[in-house]
Amino acid sequence: MAALAASPDRAVRVGGYWAKRAARAQTNAWHRLQKCAFETLRIKLFAPTWAEDPSAALAGEAARLERLGRGGFHVPDVARVTPESLLLADAGREVHETMRHADAETRLALVRRCAGLLAKLHRDGLWHGRASLRDFVLQGDTLGFIDCEEDASRLGDWARPRDLLLFLQSIARFSGDGALVKEALAAYGDLAVKAQLAKTLRWISPAIRALSPFRQSLGRDLKQMLIVCEALA
Ligand SMILES: Nc1ncnc2c1ncn2[C@@H]1O[C@H](COP(=O)(O)OP(=O)(O)O)[C@@H](O)[C@H]1O
Ligand SMILES: [Mg+2]
Repeated sequence: MAALAASPDRAVRVGGYWAKRAARAQTNAWHRLQKCAFETLRIKLFAPTWAEDPSAALAGEAARLERLGRGGFHVPDVARVTPESLLLADAGREVHETMRHADAETRLALVRRCAGLLAKLHRDGLWHGRASLRDFVLQGDTLGFIDCEEDASRLGDWARPRDLLLFLQSIARFSGDGALVKEALAAYGDLAVKAQLAKTLRWISPAIRALSPFRQSLGRDLKQMLIVCEALA
């Protein structure tokens, strides 16, 4: 793990593997928004899931990756777990990265495939814990998941709507008018998870709109959330 020690990055590629270190305390804008929303509204959709114990989080991530792998999903093989780091086989290129450099047609095809895979995961009774476009990878033509770091088990029935919300928000980044988000929703299909998310967002969207004046500090997350609310309305 010398490569990891020498790098400022969270994960470092070493040959056909990725070495990933334990997380530091996380306090980005999304985490603050999420914590604030959960504490004021007590809606499980926003319950914090980031790890308080970074070493336990790595072991949890390894276990969740293995669970998805047993379910037939393409995920990295776990080569080694220690309290400080994970060693994972390379599972392909981040879809988010591919999206950044892709044309509109490729983006649409990718979003539809990711939505279909997320729907399959959810139909199988599983969840990812976040499922943003950064958590999907493409290896050759095989689509799969990485980064199962967030433990959504404490969310119970809300783990899957939460996956869907974060997935849609990550697409909203590429879709100012919401068209791509609507395509993703169509490709996801009519799972009860979608209705469950729509119902909650209908209820809280006025509150989200009311937060608009704070866009400067919470800007992108809020804007994406508004696009998702509108696409699901
Ligand atoms: N097994 C893997 N296969 C392919 N890419 C990986 C793998 N593990 C990590 N990466 C790359 O490293 C980045 C950071 O790793 P990730 O597990 O997403 O940690 P985090 O997002 O919590 O920092 C990923 O976005 C991806 O680009
Ligand atoms: Mg990641």
